[in-house]
Amino acid sequence: MFRLGVNIDHVATVRQARYRDAALGEPDPVQAALTCEKAGCYGITAHLREDRRHIQDQDIWKLKEALSIPLNFEMANTTEMVDIASKLLPAAVCLVPEKREELTTEGGLDVAGNLASISETTHRLQDLGIEVSLFIDPDPRQIDASAKATAQAIELHTGAYAEAFPGPDKGDSEIQRLTKVATQGHELGLKVNAGHGLNYENTYRTHEVPHLSELNIGHSIVSRSIAVGMEQAAKEMLKLLIPGSS
Ligand code: PXP
Repeated sequence: MFRLGVNIDHVATVRQARYRDAALGEPDPVQAALTCEKAGCYGITAHLREDRRHIQDQDIWKLKEALSIPLNFEMANTTEMVDIASKLLPAAVCLVPEKREELTTEGGLDVAGNLASISETTHRLQDLGIEVSLFIDPDPRQIDASAKATAQAIELHTGAYAEAFPGPDKGDSEIQRLTKVATQGHELGLKVNAGHGLNYENTYRTHEVPHLSELNIGHSIVSRSIAVGMEQAAKEMLKLLIPGSS
């Protein structure tokens, strides 16, 4: 049984496709987030990218004001974003790597290779009462480094599992890899979350991975909402995560 965090970035992607330079526009990511809240989701994730390709600064502030459920602010480890997070004071920050040319967040954060700077940001945000999570590949080195950086949580990148899932063994070796590192993270006292590439077909296998707390899912829920609406799309995913939910 997991908590569902809905990543609403792609609601803003659709709006930006038409209303890039306008102050307003549709669809509204804040409205979508409120609908997810009503559907019973645990939290909302939004990524303010350096290039502002989807979520805009005003979205983040409106989300913080409007939501009663936790806001997980996804951001790169840059001075600009640390300053915004320090003023915004979201419930949680998830530090992610960011490359301008990538379509979406393609790999995990190299915590082991950037331990000093990630630790410094982690401490700064934690001193303000913000929970810090690090988005990392399911790699034992990165789990150890995340504990050294004193993060409260890790978010395991499930992209490799999602890519392997259509194969004959439905991503067996990736599930084994996730199981190993989730156990390692749990033993080190880290809260273990996961996300990226999870959808209505492949999410069921995450129940095999021990110690998972939150799943952050975006693209598939926003895509499904086009056919059935956001509330129904969120509820259908909740049913897969929390058997017995209505
Ligand atoms: N978690 C993190 C850290 C992400 O960056 C993203 C989006 O790239 C997601 C979860 C959600 O991924 P998806 O949109 O593939 O569900």
